[in-house]
Amino acid sequence: MQRKAHYSNNAFFDEGKVIIITGASSGIGKAVALALVKYKPKLVLTARRKRKLYHTASLLKKQKVKVLPVVSDIRDREDRERIIDSTLRTYGRIDVLINNAGLGKANLFLNQPEEEIDQLIETNVLSLIKMTHAIVPIMKEQGEGCIINISSSLAMLPVYPFAVYCATKSAVKVFGDSIRQELRNYGISVSTVLPGPYDTEFNKISGLNDNVVNGSSVNKLAEKIAKLIVKPKYNLIQPKSFIPLIWITEKFRFLKEKITLQIAEQIYKARITNINRTEQKKTEKKEMEIAVEVKTKN
Ligand SMILES: NC(=O)c1ccc[n+]([C@@H]2O[C@H](COP(=O)([O-])OP(=O)(O)OC[C@H]3O[C@@H](n4cnc5c(N)ncnc54)[C@H](OP(=O)(O)O)[C@@H]3O)[C@@H](O)[C@H]2O)c1
Repeated sequence: MQRKAHYSNNAFFDEGKVIIITGASSGIGKAVALALVKYKPKLVLTARRKRKLYHTASLLKKQKVKVLPVVSDIRDREDRERIIDSTLRTYGRIDVLINNAGLGKANLFLNQPEEEIDQLIETNVLSLIKMTHAIVPIMKEQGEGCIINISSSLAMLPVYPFAVYCATKSAVKVFGDSIRQELRNYGISVSTVLPGPYDTEFNKISGLNDNVVNGSSVNKLAEKIAKLIVKPKYNLIQPKSFIPLIWITEKFRFLKEKITLQIAEQIYKARITNINRTEQKKTEKKEMEIAVEVKTKN
């Protein structure tokens, strides 16, 4: 029997849910996998870096959690099919999809290489939509399901050194808001997570200097995301201090300009100091090499 998805009660909860988490080799995805232990899930973890992915899996196995790691690139169609096929072969169903795999690239739009634009859109948007598109018919057949998409608070606070990233995360938010209405009639909930800055590999991969960006620890965020399988929410904004910030910038246009410019300048500073740091390291390396050469010549 079909039932509507609920956003206010704990209707969906029981143990042994089959949960796919994309991007579980580090950061938020890894922390969410660990935070889910108390729900006794059957997990499927995906990412490209085998060693890191298997490390997450081994931490879970030690806690007696059933876990299937699938080394895969989420942008690759065959890899996405392999994730879904091996989940169904191993567990027979898919209850929850956590679309977390993603990355940022801080850059001025004028300087952004086209490959970076492709990578951001393919990973953060296209793969997420295609993964969801492949899985919702399975959830519809089951009569229930739960989708959790990781967007970003920058979807609501667009900043210039992250223009393409912000556009991808805004697309994730709007996609979730759009499909929610269609899917609720099949018992499928759609929650969107909008994190602020968190301390993960995200900053390094984005090309930002960690010392300039002040991120929170992911553990509390992971607990809140894990809870969405029990109690879905339209939007989860974390840390809590970002709720009034987003609310006020939505309400007052002039404040939005001012606040986003401040955040943008902070990010730009983190980008520039990182470039300087990398340049400095390169120079130091070169000087070392020259010194060694001179020494060996003498
Ligand atoms: N940290 C923040 O401040 C922050 C804020 C807002 C939103 N977010 C979002 O949160 C999500 C998780 O990021 P994070 O902060 O946890 O950063 P992270 O530590 O860099 O984790 C990103 C994860 O995504 C995976 N991934 C990236 N590209 C992939 C690909 N092509 N195929 C498969 N997996 C891929 C990575 O695994 P492999 O490299 O092993 O493939 C890794 O497991 C992202 O969507 C990010 O945009 C982060």
